[in-house]
Amino acid sequence: MELPITREEAIEVLKSMPQLESDMNHYLESEAIMRGLAKRFNTDEEYWGMLGLLHDVDWALTKNNWEEHSIKAKEILQQKGFDEEFIEIIQSHTYGYEEIPTFKDNKRVTDIQHCLAAAETMTGIIYAYALMRGRKISDMEVKGLKKKFDNKTFAANCNREIIKEIELAGLSLDEFFGLCINSIKEIREQIGLE
Ligand SMILES: [Fe+2]
Repeated sequence: MELPITREEAIEVLKSMPQLESDMNHYLESEAIMRGLAKRFNTDEEYWGMLGLLHDVDWALTKNNWEEHSIKAKEILQQKGFDEEFIEIIQSHTYGYEEIPTFKDNKRVTDIQHCLAAAETMTGIIYAYALMRGRKISDMEVKGLKKKFDNKTFAANCNREIIKEIELAGLSLDEFFGLCINSIKEIREQIGLE
């Protein structure tokens, strides 16, 4: 699948806006998980990675004005030359949010849409768990992560139902947790983890 810009250019786009380090980390983690999923499904790693990296491309501009989140993204992505299909997948990660009237009644339907939503939601639980473990992810295990997932008060803003959408794409939660840990482990130094 064709991408109009390189990974480096995508990072430049993100850095052209004021970004919190924690937000940048979230984009990189989402990218890493999407790359891991692409490998698992034997599909286009660059394309899936780009979806993860840019899914919140408008976040720096819309975080105080949620109704615009993923609407503004369309403008930015169109300007960079991304096609309708790519943009629709990006926007689909905000389907169902009450705060975004344009998309509150939309439903994700394709595997790639479920994957992106599950991947970006999972980053919050993993990062919070790593911080709790003294920033350590190198020896994180699925069992421990699963306990945190089951404890709904832990990283409570990470919607478990969205993460469970990974099952609609054909992965068990256990496999997904393992894949997420391994994917984020690979970029741990870039995001301040050990
Ligand atoms: Fe996100």
